[in-house]
Amino acid sequence: MRQEKKQVTDISDRPVIRNLADVDPVRAQQVAALRAHALSDPEAFWLEQAQRIDWATFPTAASAASFDGDVSIRWYEDGTLNASVSCLDRHLETRGDQPALIWQADDAAVSRTLTFRELHAEVCRLANALRGLGVKRGDRVAIHLPMVVEGVAAMLACARIGAIHVVLFGGFSPEGIGERLIDSGAVAVITCDFSRRGAKRIPHKTTVDAALAHAGTIGAVKNVIVVQVTGDAVPMTEGRDHDYTTLVSPQETECAPEIMRAEDVLFLLYTSGSTGKPKAMVHATGGYMVWAACTTDWTLSPQPGKIHWCTADIAWITGHTYVVYGPLLSGTTTLIYEGLLGWPQPGRWWDIVDRYQVSCLYTAPTAIRALMRDGDDVPREYSLASLERLACAGEPISPDAWEWFYTVIGQQRCPVADMWWQTETGGGMLCVIPGAQPMKPGWATTPLPGLSAVLTNEKGEIIEGATEGALCFTQSWPGQARTIWGDHKRFRETYFTFSPGKYFAGDGARRDENGYYMITGRMDDVINVSGHRIGTAEIEDALATCHSVSEAAAVGINHDLKGQGIVVFVVARSAKVAPPVDELSRVICERVGRYAAPERIYLVKDMPKTRSGKIVRRLLRKIASGETENLGDLSALADPAVIPALIAAVGEQTITG
Ligand code: WTA
Repeated sequence: MRQEKKQVTDISDRPVIRNLADVDPVRAQQVAALRAHALSDPEAFWLEQAQRIDWATFPTAASAASFDGDVSIRWYEDGTLNASVSCLDRHLETRGDQPALIWQADDAAVSRTLTFRELHAEVCRLANALRGLGVKRGDRVAIHLPMVVEGVAAMLACARIGAIHVVLFGGFSPEGIGERLIDSGAVAVITCDFSRRGAKRIPHKTTVDAALAHAGTIGAVKNVIVVQVTGDAVPMTEGRDHDYTTLVSPQETECAPEIMRAEDVLFLLYTSGSTGKPKAMVHATGGYMVWAACTTDWTLSPQPGKIHWCTADIAWITGHTYVVYGPLLSGTTTLIYEGLLGWPQPGRWWDIVDRYQVSCLYTAPTAIRALMRDGDDVPREYSLASLERLACAGEPISPDAWEWFYTVIGQQRCPVADMWWQTETGGGMLCVIPGAQPMKPGWATTPLPGLSAVLTNEKGEIIEGATEGALCFTQSWPGQARTIWGDHKRFRETYFTFSPGKYFAGDGARRDENGYYMITGRMDDVINVSGHRIGTAEIEDALATCHSVSEAAAVGINHDLKGQGIVVFVVARSAKVAPPVDELSRVICERVGRYAAPERIYLVKDMPKTRSGKIVRRLLRKIASGETENLGDLSALADPAVIPALIAAVGEQTITG
């Protein structure tokens, strides 16, 4: 049965601001007090927030961070802890028999529920197995798994023994995985036979084998643990490969947690930047856990006994913070779903919501757009009455997608937390605190307590008031990435030189007269395809390996479903031999990943370049989007005659497909 819609009263004179009927004055006041405290005494505020997690030794000081000079970010330095204790052990006495993790298989008839006690035991067994294989504190362990119980257990088992987890996306190519195994120096990989993607089977084990062959003798991987997900036979290398169940089931169900310093690394997570080389953001144990706890609580209000479903893959930062660490440390039940959106039928997600009585649904705008396309009748066949909170992150959400999510899924009863954040930030940064402030569709709203967001102009100077500029933060926060693994110089240069002394997020934003922020998109060469960050250089570097290509430039264009799509311009090495477009696309998928498949590839004679030889992507973007009327000032181009030729080439090739 559909719930009757709650009347939403709009007490604002700006109709665009949606006031929740239940903005609670007491909650609003509490949050205002919290913000004021963070401003007046940050040290005390952050130490207070640290109490949200369990410590072996509680820290005596909060921040020792500086964005100046060499940039050094440290939090809670004399504190010691183990992250898995806050997620598991702390609950054993009070709610050991409550569900911690629900796994819904692709097959609707198959699911598995683990209580906190059971998850604790599974994590300890795997942790003991890893120790038995010689994995030590500080070692890197790569995890290459789909959404299965073992993926969550693997992250926590690494944390248990102080090993650093490096979760790799299932869609990465063998080259991509190999490169990351070398860069991280991983000593072990936890993978599976195959994963399921609708009717397809995605090979994991053979991909890892190929990646290891690619990593060759430089790689440090000594052990590969293979989970049976589909049960299909896969080649096993004697002495290196181990079957998960055979290895793990005989182990002890207790494992003493390794006591870590707050600044010891909890995990590395790869993300894309302006250059082709993937970068691993380094997250430290204490601060990350505190920030996961704060942001989960403020924005999602998780509660023990309720079901929290964040649809993100564990290979993304959202999966780390809002599938695993945030929900588990708050004692709520986290649900993971192995399958695809809308598979095998469009209402699959809503079936899961009703079946498990999901209370909080956290997803990405790209999924919301896809769900919207199925029409309102699909969700209307379900009750969805259990939903209390909605959230989304990963890319800008348009006001109409927001409205649809709020109205059709949330039935105007559930606040929508549009959370802006990044792999680099560890947890949510700009987000409405539901109940304490009005929402505004399409706007990520305000910085969370303790954060110091500013906008700057192109020169990096702070600009005030209702305006638009580059989003920066003047002060550190506990969840901030500490560095780029093995490349602190790149960290400093990427994030702290645009506006010295400030963290530059790489996004542009607009600010309204109420101090609400709306993200306008990336200001660097990063394309966001369905929430996947892809550096244009990753695509260009992949194409540089093709002998037939002389030059390539990738740009992002608007895409109805994916948010952004990729368009690639290619100049052939020889005017006589045109590189086959299918082949170029295949190379991109192989080297970068399937998710980087371009929408279109145009063969062109010349690129628009400045006199110093830099490709002017702005023009390529406009031409690819068909915005050829208003190309702006072309006087900086070395050869303006390139432009009409480009427009003609694009026109011809688009028509002929
Ligand atoms: C974009 C994902 C608008 C942004 C959590 C950012 C968003 C990049 C939002 C980080 C949002 C993320 N509104 N844009 N609510 N959330 N973004 O590292 O461009 O995969 O810089 O982290 O996604 O992507 P990442």
